[in-house]
Amino acid sequence: MAIDKKFIEQLKSKNEIVDVVSAYCQLERRGGSYWARCPLPGHMEKTPSFSVNQAGQFFKCFGCQRGGDVISFIMEVENLNYIEAIRFLANRAGMEMPADTTVDDARINEAKKQKETSLAILLAAAKFYVENLYSKAGAPYLDYMIKRGFSVKTLRSFGIGASLDYRSLPEHLLSLGYSYEDMERCGVVSKSADGRYTDFEAKRLIVPIIDNIGNVIAFGGRVIEKVDFGKYKNTRETAVFVKNRCLYNVNNMKALRREKGALPYVIMVEGYMDVIALSEAGFKNVVASMGTSLTVEQARLLQRYTDTVIISYDGDAAGQHATFRGLQILKDAGLDVKVVSLPDGLDPDELIKARGAAAYEKLIGEALPLIDYKLKVVGERFDLKSVDGRRKYVENALRVIAESDKDFEKEELLKKVSEKSRITYETLKRDLDKAPEKRESNKVLYETEEISSALEKAERFILYSHVFSKSYATEDIGSFEFSSAMRSEIASYVAKEVALNGKVVPATVCDALGTDYIDELNGIFNFGDGVPESSRQKYYIDSVRVVKKRSLESQIVDLQNYFNELIDLDERKSVLLVLGKKIAELNGLK
Ligand code: UTP
Ligand code: MN
Repeated sequence: MAIDKKFIEQLKSKNEIVDVVSAYCQLERRGGSYWARCPLPGHMEKTPSFSVNQAGQFFKCFGCQRGGDVISFIMEVENLNYIEAIRFLANRAGMEMPADTTVDDARINEAKKQKETSLAILLAAAKFYVENLYSKAGAPYLDYMIKRGFSVKTLRSFGIGASLDYRSLPEHLLSLGYSYEDMERCGVVSKSADGRYTDFEAKRLIVPIIDNIGNVIAFGGRVIEKVDFGKYKNTRETAVFVKNRCLYNVNNMKALRREKGALPYVIMVEGYMDVIALSEAGFKNVVASMGTSLTVEQARLLQRYTDTVIISYDGDAAGQHATFRGLQILKDAGLDVKVVSLPDGLDPDELIKARGAAAYEKLIGEALPLIDYKLKVVGERFDLKSVDGRRKYVENALRVIAESDKDFEKEELLKKVSEKSRITYETLKRDLDKAPEKRESNKVLYETEEISSALEKAERFILYSHVFSKSYATEDIGSFEFSSAMRSEIASYVAKEVALNGKVVPATVCDALGTDYIDELNGIFNFGDGVPESSRQKYYIDSVRVVKKRSLESQIVDLQNYFNELIDLDERKSVLLVLGKKIAELNGLK
C-alpha cells in the first residue's frame, strides 16, 4: 500500500517545520524567515546561512545548497530514507502509521523520471549537433570557427556543434523514441506558430552548456552571419537549466581540480568564445558568466574550486556599475576578487589574437584587488586639474576606502589618494573616520538575494500578493507573461489552485512545484514581507503596470518584425491595426 496524500498532508500539518527544526539548532527570526547556523551533517559554518520559511514550510541552506520540506529536513539531519523519515515524524506527532507502507510517491518519481529524460535528450541533441559540424552541410560553421583561429581539437573538447535546419533534430529525437512533449520540456524544440515542432537553435553554431556533474543542461546558439542583435540564443530556463546557478565551463574546473588540487585562481570572462579562445591559448582555468549579473549561487559554485577569482571582462564592461555589483557579490561570499583591465575595449579573445598569450599572462599577473581597482576607476573618472573634479574624486575615493575592513589597507589606499589629490593624509583620515558606514554588514547578504531588475521585483511582488491571497490582488495572473519560466509556473499553479479551491495554501506551493523552486519562492516570500503593509496595495498596482508594460513592449517588437517581413497588402493592414491598438494600450499605461 502506498502512503496516501492525505496522510502526508496531515503529517506535515502536525509537524510544523519551525518547531521541528528548533530541536536541532537555535533559530533566530529576521524578517519573514528564521535563521541559524546550518545543522545538517557535513556542513560546519560560523555565520548563519540556513533559513526556514514558515509561511512556505520549507528550509534552505545557502551554504550547502540543501533545501526542502520538513520530511527532507529529517531525512538529511537524521540520515533516514523517505519512509523512515515519515515514520519518525508520525511518531513525533503521535500519529498511527498506515499499515504496510511502501515507498510510492508517484509525484516525486515522475519529476525524477522527467529530469532523467530531459538530460538524455539534451545529450542526444549535443551528439547530433557535433556530428553535423563535421558533415558536408556543416562546412560553413566549421569554417567560421577555423577562421576565428580555433583548432578542431579544441572544438571537439568543448563539444561545439551545429544545427543545420529546423526539422532534422526533432526527427532524429523522434527516431530515438522521444516525444515532442519531452523535447519541448527540456527546451531543445519549440512549437512554432503553425503548430510544427522545430529545433529551437535552428541554423546556429552550437555551444553546449555543461553543469558541474557533467550533464549537458542547455545550449548557446550563435548565428555565424553578422547581426545587430540576437547574436546568441540560449535555451530557455527549464527544470534542468537554472541560469543563475550556472557558469559556463565549470565542468572543466572540476576536472582540473581533480588533476591539480585546488586551483590558485579561476579567470572569469563574459563570453563562451572567450573561454574557448583562452583554453586554446593554454589558459584552462576559465569560466564565463554568460553575460548576466552574478549571483550568490554562482559564487558558491566557484568556491568549490578556488578562493580567488580574476575578473577579465572586456575593457568597457569592467568599469560599469552593474559589473561592480556582481563583483561585490563574489567578494561578500568570501572569494578574493581581482580585476584585470584589458586595453582598448578588447575582450580576452581579441586581445590574445592581437597581442599573444604572453601579453595576456602579463595582464593577469598585474590584476588589481577589487578595492584598488575601484579606486583606479574613480581616479580616471574625474578631472583632477579642476577644483571641482578633485573634490568629487576625494569624496568618491573615500567612499571606496570606507568599504575596507582592514586598517593597513585603508592606510595604504589613503596614501595613494593623498598623493593624487595633494590633500594631506591626516585630513583625509579625519574625513574618512567621519563618513558614515557606507556598506551594510555582510550578515544581511543572504536575506534577500540580489534582484537584478525592477521587472523581477514587480513579478515577485505580484506573485507574493497572490500566494497570500491579498484582498488587493485582483488581477488574473494566469494570463500574465512573466520573464522567467519558474515564475510563470508559480503563477499558473496559483491560478489553478484559486480556480479549483478558491485560494492557495502558501505551505503547499513548494511541495507542489518541487525543491528546484525553493530559491525563487524564498525570493518571493522574503521580498513581499519586506514591503510595508501600508504600501502594498500601491506597490501591487505599480508592479502590474510594469509587467504589463514589458509584455506589451515585447509583443510590439514581435509585431513590428513580423510586419516588416509581410508583403501582402491586406495582411500588412491587419497587422498594422493590431499594432496600433497595442501601441495605444501601451501609451495608456505610461
Ligand atoms: P559576447 O558578445 O562577448 O560573446 O557576449 P562572445 O562569446 O565573446 O561571442 P563572439 O566573440 O561575439 O562570438 C558575452 C556572452 O553573453 C551572452 C553569451 O553567453 C555570450 O557568450 N549573450 C551575448 C547572449 O546570451 N545573447 C546575446 O545576444 C549576446
Ligand atoms: Mn567575443
